[in-house]
Amino acid sequence: MATATEPAASARQIHPPEDLYARELAFLAAYDRGPRPPAWRLTPRAVVTFVMGSGDELKLPEPVEGLPRALTIGAKFVGERALVERCVVTLAGERGLLLVGEPGTAKSMLSELLAAAVCGTSGLTVQGTAGTTEDQLKYGWNYALLLAQGPSRGALVPSPVLTAMTTGAVARIEEVTRCLPEVQDALVSLLSERRIAVPELAGGPDAQVHAAPGFTLIATANLRDRGVSEMSAALKRRFNFETVGPIGDHDAETALVRRQARAAVERTGTAYAVDDTVLEVLVTAFRDLRTGRSAEGWEIERPSTVLSTAEAVSVASSLALAAAYFPGDRDVLSLLPGHLLGVAKKDDPADAARLLSYWDAAVRRRAEHGSATWRTLWDLRGVLEG
Ligand SMILES: Nc1ncnc2c1ncn2[C@@H]1O[C@H](COP(=O)(O)OP(=O)(O)OP(=O)(O)O)[C@@H](O)[C@H]1O
Ligand SMILES: [Mg+2]
Repeated sequence: MATATEPAASARQIHPPEDLYARELAFLAAYDRGPRPPAWRLTPRAVVTFVMGSGDELKLPEPVEGLPRALTIGAKFVGERALVERCVVTLAGERGLLLVGEPGTAKSMLSELLAAAVCGTSGLTVQGTAGTTEDQLKYGWNYALLLAQGPSRGALVPSPVLTAMTTGAVARIEEVTRCLPEVQDALVSLLSERRIAVPELAGGPDAQVHAAPGFTLIATANLRDRGVSEMSAALKRRFNFETVGPIGDHDAETALVRRQARAAVERTGTAYAVDDTVLEVLVTAFRDLRTGRSAEGWEIERPSTVLSTAEAVSVASSLALAAAYFPGDRDVLSLLPGHLLGVAKKDDPADAARLLSYWDAAVRRRAEHGSATWRTLWDLRGVLEG
């Protein structure tokens, strides 16, 4: 039996989207029975609906056992529908998809959602690092079996990419530009010839592993890491690039931050109790500092670090958890400047001064215009002086 210190075996911190949204995926497979690209679980249109949400309730034409008759598909990725459609078309054409953008713009999340919807798993993943080797993109060996039996298909340990090739699935390569160029180039032959040679098995039937229909790759690249421009021209040509930007709409960003902060608190079994005005101010500050211009049109000195939506979500979640675990101790708004300071100065200590100048310009002006929330923040200026 699970005790307080020993969680149940099934407890997980994060559920991959194919598990978290299993019901939605099964429903969409039954709802849209149109033609699908080879090996796809859903139609391209249903994949877009899965990622963007259905808005209205969808109703099955006839009852299907184990599925609800009607379901609203929740919105997950907040952004341009056209971008998601282009991503889906790229994958349907079995071309590689490269999602590039600033940190924290949901590139990884989008790649997981797409992979889960297209082939039922987002788990065939290689995390690109400076230490990634070609083996991790191709195959390795089980040395005990290799020594006992010599090279054989059984002793071969496939990489997630090789598994995706043989099963016609989508493999994900995170942060591809962090891999060394010669390692990245292993992907060139794989994407053009759609097979991997296994010289150790030369002469046998397994000397070549061929990609099954449906196989493709989604890679992500962070613009703050080593440049996408340094990728070889040959590799670039094998990918369709899509740039994922920050969320354009203020209200959409606030709604997302609220949804995710609420989910973070509800996971712990406590009640969510953060006032909407706090989230409003938090998202406004992130957007002002990110764009260098306030909604009122004032110029704002931008910190050099990125203030992403992902970080807005994590600050909002911390505030919500503080409110849940220390109810009544302190106004959650009073915690905001400290959190903002932490986010702002993570790359460059000089960004702390930029945050202070944001306080002296925008926060002060709003406080003078009579907003009680901004006045409270102005009164907390001392927190930033450290
Ligand atoms: N447009 C968006 N739609 C939905 N969620 C978003 C969006 N932008 C940011 N988020 C939030 O940011 C979180 C982190 O996103 P993710 O890790 O996928 O970003 P990333 O672009 O891969 O970042 P990095 O470049 O640092 O790897 C998401 O789980 C979500 O909470
Ligand atoms: Mg990522």
